[in-house]
Amino acid sequence: MIRKILKWIGIVLGGLIGLLIVAFVVLVIVGGAQANKTYDVPAETIPIPTEAEAIERGEHVALIHYCQQCHLDNLGGELSFAIPGLLSIPTPNLTSGAGGVGSFYTDADWERAIRHGVGHDGRALWVMPSENFSHLSDEDMGALIAYLKSVPPVDNELPDRKIEPMGRVMVTLGMVPPVAADRIDHMATSTAVIEPAISVEYGAYLARTMCTECHGANLNGVPFGPPGQEVPSPNLTPGGELATWTEEQFIATLRTGITPDGHQLNEEMPWPYFGQMTDDEMQALWLYLQSLPVLAQGG
Ligand code: HEC
Ligand code: HEC
Repeated sequence: MIRKILKWIGIVLGGLIGLLIVAFVVLVIVGGAQANKTYDVPAETIPIPTEAEAIERGEHVALIHYCQQCHLDNLGGELSFAIPGLLSIPTPNLTSGAGGVGSFYTDADWERAIRHGVGHDGRALWVMPSENFSHLSDEDMGALIAYLKSVPPVDNELPDRKIEPMGRVMVTLGMVPPVAADRIDHMATSTAVIEPAISVEYGAYLARTMCTECHGANLNGVPFGPPGQEVPSPNLTPGGELATWTEEQFIATLRTGITPDGHQLNEEMPWPYFGQMTDDEMQALWLYLQSLPVLAQGG
């Protein structure tokens, strides 16, 4: 009798384990297909300037949009985002040196990667904040591309992106935030030129290309951080702490990384790059933030 029961338990357990293995394999396959899905984004032709002044403008656009934080100062890239057993996503070498995408990229490839979040092989780029960059004007985009094409070559061959089986399972289960390519409206046409000025409009433009990815579309804060460990990012509307700040304190915070009450901003907030905005840009941003409706903390 007991042997019979044990035999049945064995059969049931064996079946369950078999089912689990099948389920795991299915999750891995579905996640792999999702992670490697290719995107057919219409390439846009935008004018690429050649004058030194435009290239200098492009260098500034790159700096304040913190390309160097991830792609390094020489834009040679590194193996930065790696979680053993889950995934490894090298930050690509953008130069024309060995292993750099600059050696084979067309102007359309640059535009597709930066504004649409789709890489040279058609896959959605992970980590890269293209949702913000999708709002760059044609003029800034052209200047940025002109600058990227002008940087000295760096030889740095990096491995391919790798999403391990457990990483693929997390993709299938929706435990990985949606990639920028899925959040961007690829059919929206970008503004050709946005005049730099100390104006609410220019401040709104800067916020859209730099701040909303982390502080939310309404800038009142959204869940921020690795899946499962999110904390709300600060509310930048007059409903948050900035209500008590002056313009000088706002600018000093972005330049030094220290808030008026002495809090040192952590590295999640790329202030060393935003801190290199011009005074005019900071003032425009401040004007815009001050003009926002008073919203309660989001996230
Ligand atoms: C938060 C980090 C981060 C920032 C900031 C960032 N990138 Fe990236 N970028 C990445 C990562 C990571 C990848 C590779 C993603 C992948 O393979 O899925 C990437 C990919 C790219 C690619 C695609 C290369 C290819 O394989 O086709 C280009 C081009 C690029 N970045 C340019 C830029 C530029 C220009 C800026 C600034 C305007 C910038 N990135 C800012 C992290 C970043
Ligand atoms: C990559 C994500 C990211 C981006 C992009 C980003 N922030 Fe932040 N920001 C954060 C995080 C996270 C904090 C909280 C840091 C801390 O408390 O140490 C923060 C904090 C701040 C603070 C301090 C707020 C307070 O109440 O103490 C200000 C001001 C700020 N950000 C402004 C901006 C502005 C302006 C932009 C766009 C130019 C921007 N941030 C873009 C992530 C980001």
